[in-house]
Amino acid sequence: MHKEIIMLFHRNFPFIVREEATVRAILENKDCNIIEKRNDTNVLIGAVVIHDSTILMLCVDKEYRNRGIGSELLAAAEALVKKAGYKEITVGAGYDYLMPGVPTSKRYVAAVNERLYEGIDDTASDFFTKRGYEHSWDCNCFDMRFPLSEFTKNEYSVGDTIDGICYRFAGPEDAEKVFACTDDAYDEFTTYYKNDALYYGDGKQNPKVLIAVDGDEVVGTLFVNLETEGEGLGSVGCTTVKPSHQGRHIGVNMVIIGTKYLKDSGMKEAYLGYTYTGLDHMYGYAGYKVCIYYMMAKKQL
Ligand SMILES: CC(C)(COP(=O)(O)OP(=O)(O)OC[C@H]1O[C@@H](n2cnc3c(N)ncnc32)[C@H](O)[C@@H]1OP(=O)(O)O)[C@@H](O)C(=O)NCCC(=O)NCCS
Repeated sequence: MHKEIIMLFHRNFPFIVREEATVRAILENKDCNIIEKRNDTNVLIGAVVIHDSTILMLCVDKEYRNRGIGSELLAAAEALVKKAGYKEITVGAGYDYLMPGVPTSKRYVAAVNERLYEGIDDTASDFFTKRGYEHSWDCNCFDMRFPLSEFTKNEYSVGDTIDGICYRFAGPEDAEKVFACTDDAYDEFTTYYKNDALYYGDGKQNPKVLIAVDGDEVVGTLFVNLETEGEGLGSVGCTTVKPSHQGRHIGVNMVIIGTKYLKDSGMKEAYLGYTYTGLDHMYGYAGYKVCIYYMMAKKQL
């Protein structure tokens, strides 16, 4: 069953970037409820995966669409969540996520630096809208992507200083200062940075943390990751800059230098996931473009 559901996920969401171990852990989690749909020969052709009040995945194989199967699965998921006592159901991110929301080509507010994946449309978000769901963010949620053959910002590298700020990788001695920075900028990220493996390993560990340093203070942090989400694919993310230092292009510089490191390390493409309006502009300085939007769907039951 688990192997089948993982294959169903990959068939229906080929454009979702997520570490394979995370996908497995989520879909094999015993606390998830899976309602499945099989064809006459007992092949899994659709399913809805629910955890608490969140739909983590709803899909029906292409050749079985437009026959009411998705509506049936969604209604069953809503009934289950309601029976468990919840007044609201969400799609995408809950205790964890396979994708932040419903994949769509639809933007809810204006956006810049957009180059959507071929074949992405608003069918899925329309499906949820017609069934009473609303986008619950007051801005867009999206992923960005960048073919590194197009990277041109080669003037600075890891170890360089720009306008008095030094950009380098963090070692064990920097960890506490990294947490002080993330706590100050956006404390929800601190838990991701509290992982010893990020700081130990003679600089060869992966992922690692690029920091912006002003004197002896860490004022910016960025995750830099090689290939954990796919061959030739690097990523940056969890960007933070201390409020005292925001608006000075420290975010932009970390992303450019981190992305140059990805290219110099042999990555073909760079990726950053689950971000929001305004940052299409900031990450665009390095060359990233919005490749997919998400409807952060929510409905009162
Ligand atoms: C997002 C963040 C890292 C930006 O850091 P920063 O160093 O202030 O950003 P920069 O100075 O490099 O910004 C570059 C550009 O992006 C714009 N920008 C940055 N954040 C923005 C936002 N939230 N909304 C709109 N525009 C934004 C800036 O106005 C600037 O534009 P301009 O120079 O062309 O006028 C910082 O605000 C932060 O730590 N926020 C909390 C954590 C967070 O949300 N991180 C992003 C997670 S993906």
